[in-house]
Amino acid sequence: MNLLFSLILCLASLTSSSSSSSSSPPSALKLDSSLKVDNKHDFLISPNNVFTAGFYSVGDNAFCFSIWFTKPLSNGERTVVWMANRDAPVNGKRSKLSLTTTGNLILLDADQELPIWTTRTSDPTQSAELKLNNSGNLFLQSKDEYIIWQSFGSPTDTLLPNQPFTKDVTLVSSRSRTNYSSGFYKLIFDNDNVIRLVYNGPNVTGVYWPNPELTASDSGRNTYGSERIATIDQFGRFVSSDGLVFSTLDYGGQPMRRLTLDVDGNVRVYSFNDGTKVWDVTWQAIAQTCTIHGTCGENSTCTNVPNFGKKCTCLPYHKMVNETDWSYGCEPEFKDSCGNVNEYGFVHLAHFDFYGYDLRYMPNASLGVCMQECKKVCNCKGFQYKFDKEQGIYLCYLKFLLLNGYGSVSFNGSIYLRVPMSILSSNSMKRIQELGLNCSGIAKMVQLERVYVKKKEQRSLKFLLLFTYVFGAFEVLCIVYIFYKTRNNVQSSEGYLQVATGFERFSYADLRKASENFKIEIGRGGGAVVYKGILSDNRVAAIKCLKESNSNQGEVEFLAEVSTLGRLNHMNLIDIWGYCAEGNHKILVYEYMENGSLAENLHANDKLDWDKRFEVAVGTAKGLAYLHEECLEWVLHCDVKPHNILLDHDYSPKVADFGLLKFMDRDGRGNSEFTKARGTRGYMAPEWFYVNLPITSKVDVYSFGVVMLEMITGKGPQGGGDQNDGYKKPVVSWVRDKVAVAAEADGCDDMSDWIEEIVDSTVKGEYDRIRMGTLIKVALQCVEENKDQRPTMSQVVDMLLHGDDCKL
Ligand SMILES: *[C@@H]1O[C@H](CO)[C@@H](O)[C@H](O)[C@H]1NC(C)=O
Ligand SMILES: *[C@@H]1O[C@H](CO)[C@@H](O)[C@H](O)[C@H]1NC(C)=O
Ligand SMILES: *[C@@H]1O[C@H](CO)[C@@H](O)[C@H](O)[C@H]1NC(C)=O
Ligand SMILES: *[C@@H]1O[C@H](CO)[C@@H](O)[C@H](O)[C@H]1NC(C)=O
Ligand SMILES: *[C@@H]1O[C@H](CO)[C@@H](O)[C@H](O)[C@H]1NC(C)=O
Ligand SMILES: *[C@@H]1O[C@H](CO)[C@@H](O)[C@H](O)[C@H]1NC(C)=O
Ligand SMILES: *[C@@H]1O[C@H](CO)[C@@H](O)[C@H](O)[C@H]1NC(C)=O
Repeated sequence: MNLLFSLILCLASLTSSSSSSSSSPPSALKLDSSLKVDNKHDFLISPNNVFTAGFYSVGDNAFCFSIWFTKPLSNGERTVVWMANRDAPVNGKRSKLSLTTTGNLILLDADQELPIWTTRTSDPTQSAELKLNNSGNLFLQSKDEYIIWQSFGSPTDTLLPNQPFTKDVTLVSSRSRTNYSSGFYKLIFDNDNVIRLVYNGPNVTGVYWPNPELTASDSGRNTYGSERIATIDQFGRFVSSDGLVFSTLDYGGQPMRRLTLDVDGNVRVYSFNDGTKVWDVTWQAIAQTCTIHGTCGENSTCTNVPNFGKKCTCLPYHKMVNETDWSYGCEPEFKDSCGNVNEYGFVHLAHFDFYGYDLRYMPNASLGVCMQECKKVCNCKGFQYKFDKEQGIYLCYLKFLLLNGYGSVSFNGSIYLRVPMSILSSNSMKRIQELGLNCSGIAKMVQLERVYVKKKEQRSLKFLLLFTYVFGAFEVLCIVYIFYKTRNNVQSSEGYLQVATGFERFSYADLRKASENFKIEIGRGGGAVVYKGILSDNRVAAIKCLKESNSNQGEVEFLAEVSTLGRLNHMNLIDIWGYCAEGNHKILVYEYMENGSLAENLHANDKLDWDKRFEVAVGTAKGLAYLHEECLEWVLHCDVKPHNILLDHDYSPKVADFGLLKFMDRDGRGNSEFTKARGTRGYMAPEWFYVNLPITSKVDVYSFGVVMLEMITGKGPQGGGDQNDGYKKPVVSWVRDKVAVAAEADGCDDMSDWIEEIVDSTVKGEYDRIRMGTLIKVALQCVEENKDQRPTMSQVVDMLLHGDDCKL
């Protein structure tokens, strides 16, 4: 509380000082003068007023000499870009930064003789001045323009445009969002001249970006550039001597920018949004933050939880070492003293992986053998067990350290945690329940897992896809870059791309042959024509050729999109097998869905009975929830409609047509490409028609609601009218009116009548009234005019599966 108060006080004083015109702060600090922490107006401000340097409050009576962006954020906070003494804050009284007569810059803590921090410089000309540059560089310059020292030479966690990142500097993350002292993540130029992210924890270290599974050149980096220098310019283009080159999403403009190694270990480039006064993420190194090493500490797992982001959870029978800090990890609640083989049992955690720290690797080992081995070896903490579809065998990895754990439904392997038998037999039920209750993320996953197990045998071989997922915080741009660089040498890049994007690259000739010269057309629309084809390995495929106008995006963008598609992996999303990019031909190859689209089946009422319809609703909702919330990026579909919901041989739905998918930035605001409306009439949410309303994942929720109503009533989105109304009403208002009338008449108790009026009487099969009531209720919530009143897709899944209360 105290801390908060002083922070507010400090911020208030910052605001007042920077806005008060009466006392203009000095633009330079001269020899033999000081900036004092007590003096509220002791700041240096850059000539363009973008940057301010001065004492910044980092806690209760704790200040660091810092540079920050003068403009406050919407919540009043400032963004610090550099600190002199991040690990040793000084007192809020009598501390000062002085430029001595000899040209040394020293930071003195109250009443202490030895400086907390110093530049160790001297100026024989005795003319040095400390100035703050328009680009945010604080520098000591003598009269003859010689730069004696500059803050650009010793960054903390942030790199500003045109600030060189060299072999001599390191970015080090902050400890936490509120604690600016040095954390465990580092961005460095490694000895082999490659820029890397390194986790340098208290007990373990490791490189986690670029993907340590790949060689530098496979990650698009080169090791021969001996220069070791990288910069980002004010337009948002980053160029490094190791070959890492990227442009930010908003490349070209000149907003305030910064590249920061964030507290979660990810490098992001931000642009300041003058409208909303927040920092927008315009690039990030790692798409899935759970793959960042050490992120949850030892003996714990990381999951991406819808609406929450990253979530750390202790393994069963473990508790947090330090309740306030996950990087300390979790410790076992049991004593483990290397006992007899028979004293151990295992806890099974499906869809979890722990990266690295293998004690031993055993291919083609049965589960029993794997367990036996782990029991025998004293320091085996558990093992990873997964099926390798490519080789057709099970792989077993014994672990001596459980670090870098993460859970994802799309990971088809398990962790078996070794625990003493005594603890398993005594209170196992209680413990496992607790785990479920504590963590909604894991509870959800268990629910999905059952479905996965059922389906597993039917899934096609997708090891490569899996491969990317498991090992893969891939940097799309690297992939694109290497492709770009080696484009003239397709032969050599092909093999690499297959791994990088996770699926096959087809030649145009192959696909022409597979589709018998594009003979059987099975769909059209969305700027593409879809043909049926049979691949050389006899798989039946849907071959989607993007039309010229749609494919005039460059090859590079196309590949970027393809590689993202390749990482989406869910049983209710259509599987993508490969692609072709040759000249004007941009083609995607998907699994073929035997029973066509929902649109084609909507009126085949004997095939799509009520049970199937309910399953289609739940499956579609799960697919969309995954797109929105669980997967690597935040993805919007933007064109949810019955034509894009495909049905497999037993009518399980798979959401298709990601031709229009777009990614949201982390703050949940759509990017600028959303200025023009997209989608299909009748299914589009109201916010598409208002210029000022943000486009969020709720547009898909709306469209989903319309599709549900269409399935229930059998009426198209535009024409829901019945005989009694003289005109045709959209199905949304038609159902809404019916329900309103019914609710007035008899409330919840007797739902039968109005439900019967709404549902399509020609559909075969009995329906459960309560379930149907839920379905209608959820559908109506989805089509609320106000996007904030609509549920999220994962809430929809929850309500459909568990909601049987009647509330309208
Ligand atoms: C000050 O900034 C300008 C551009 O803003 C740059 O050209 C110049 O080199 C900078 N000087 C120092 C010492 O950083
Ligand atoms: C910040 O973290 C460091 C390292 O854990 C700790 O020593 C220091 O007390 C923390 N500072 C604040 C203000 O919490
Ligand atoms: C947890 O860590 C914080 C700072 O890292 C420290 O201040 C605190 O005392 C620790 N708590 C325990 C219970 O060790
Ligand atoms: C590091 O290891 C030491 C000794 O093995 C242990 O006491 C300490 O708690 C560990 N620190 C963390 C953060 O795990
Ligand atoms: C994690 O668990 C193992 C035993 O399974 C234990 O030896 C180790 O100290 C634990 N790590 C921490 C940080 O407590
Ligand atoms: C795996 O082991 C089984 C039985 O031990 C054996 O029959 C089979 O050939 C092995 N497969 C491979 C790929 O080694
Ligand atoms: C749906 O798939 C099944 C199984 O492959 C097939 O027998 C049936 O004819 C298909 N129905 C339609 C409408 O294509």
